[in-house]
Amino acid sequence: MLPLLRAGRDAMVINVSSQLGSMALAQTMGADTVYNVSKAALNMLSLKTATAVRDDGIGVVMIHPGWVRTDMGGPSAALTVDESANAIVDTIESLSIEDSGRFIRWDGTDHPW
Ligand SMILES: NC(=O)c1ccc[n+]([C@@H]2O[C@H](COP(=O)([O-])OP(=O)(O)OC[C@H]3O[C@@H](n4cnc5c(N)ncnc54)[C@H](OP(=O)(O)O)[C@@H]3O)[C@@H](O)[C@H]2O)c1
Repeated sequence: MLPLLRAGRDAMVINVSSQLGSMALAQTMGADTVYNVSKAALNMLSLKTATAVRDDGIGVVMIHPGWVRTDMGGPSAALTVDESANAIVDTIESLSIEDSGRFIRWDGTDHPW
C-alpha cells in the first residue's frame, strides 16, 4: 500500500481500535482478554507505523468507534451505526499530519492510552 499512500495527498491511515485496547481501562473493562490484547497490539503497531511513515507525509490514527449497535456491540449499545459512522467521517475529515499517532474517540477527543 505504501506507494499508493505516498502518491496520495494528505494520506491518512485510520485503524479501528477500541477502548478495550486501553491500558488505562484494562482493570475495569472487558472480559475478552484476547480481544483487548489484539487492540493494544494494534495501537502499538499503529504508533510504530506512524513514526515510520511520517517523513512521507502519511498519518496514522487509531479510532475507538464508541459502543455501537452492531452485531458485535449488541442492541444495548449507546450509539447507532449512523451516529458513530457520521461522527467518524467528520472526525477523519478534520485530521491532519499533526494528529498522526493519536488514539481518539469517534468524536475526535483523545482516548486515554
Ligand atoms: N461495535 C462496537 O461497540 C465496537 C466497539 C469498539 C470497537 N469496535 C471495532 O469496530 C470494528 C467493526 O466492528 P463491528 O461492531 O462492526 O463488528 P461486527 O458487527 O461484528 O462486524 C464485523 C465485520 O467484520 C467482518 N469480519 C470478521 N472477521 C473477518 C475476517 N476474518 N475477514 C474479513 N472480515 C471479517 C464481518 O464479516 P461477516 O459479516 O461476513 O462475518 C463483519 O462484517 C471492529 O474492528 C471492532 O473491533 C466495535
